[in-house]
Amino acid sequence: MATWLARAKVNLVLDVVGMRPDGYHELATIFQSIELADVVTVEPAADIDVSCETPGIPAGPENLAFRAAALLRERAGITAGARIVIDKHIPAGAGLGGGSADAAATLVALNELWALGLSAGELAALGLAAGSDVPFMIAGGTCIGRGRGELLTPLAGIAPFPIAVVVPPVAVATAGAYRAVDEWPSPQHPDLEPALAALRRGDLEALARSLGNTFEAPIAAREPVVAATLGVIRAVAPRGVVMSGSGSALIVVGASDAQVEQLRSRLPGCFVWSGRTASAGVCRLAENKPGVVDRGL
Ligand code: C5P
Repeated sequence: MATWLARAKVNLVLDVVGMRPDGYHELATIFQSIELADVVTVEPAADIDVSCETPGIPAGPENLAFRAAALLRERAGITAGARIVIDKHIPAGAGLGGGSADAAATLVALNELWALGLSAGELAALGLAAGSDVPFMIAGGTCIGRGRGELLTPLAGIAPFPIAVVVPPVAVATAGAYRAVDEWPSPQHPDLEPALAALRRGDLEALARSLGNTFEAPIAAREPVVAATLGVIRAVAPRGVVMSGSGSALIVVGASDAQVEQLRSRLPGCFVWSGRTASAGVCRLAENKPGVVDRGL
């Protein structure tokens, strides 16, 4: 049996550049892994079996981890199975890549369990068939993402920084969120460059001023609880607040302990997490220092 951490991601900047002929949207984004993580355990079994005790998370073929395992088995041309147990900590439908993280961890874990010897690039190509965020979830750390999000440029040497995540009590389905952007009259197209320069300098203040997300205005307009939550967060933390992915998660870059305390007391209906950014996506649980794991869960 092997246990793996499947870390969540946030988007520090996310520009939905436009629609592509294949029906997907062209993105320009800065992906960032955070310590918040699901725990994925794999062990040999006769067939592929995914289980998760969290209500609302599918256990069968609708689970991205199941799909990733089936794709890997087909690609390898083997008949082996695996029992995959997912211990969820990443809220679903939040734009934090939880399902993609589980799929990424499953690919990495089964590549090892089944001794397939596939490269990270080969796993990423398989993962893209399960979901657009899976290649980043395998790579982890800090990356520029283009295309559907699979054309990745890693940024090395970015020091971890504090971050808080607030998830309002509403799940956002990705495909519908893209439609909301398409129908929005004046979509914002945030520039990646100021945030990239701030990250390279380790300038958290400048980073906090450089965040942006095309989804934020249309999703806040469609979901009043998101707009209300954004209002409360901005009253507590005037800078460094932005939506992650297609929502509903909202992040606070450089959040202080006092601000997190206030968010918890003023937003009792929201999931509030605080911790640090992470320099890896998927990793074996045993490889982590205990303190890092504690903060990640
Ligand atoms: O790739 P994934 O399964 O996560 O995408 C879910 C849906 O989100 C797609 O079916 C598509 O409607 C939309 N999407 C998109 N452009 C992207 C990623 C996702 O339009 N780059």
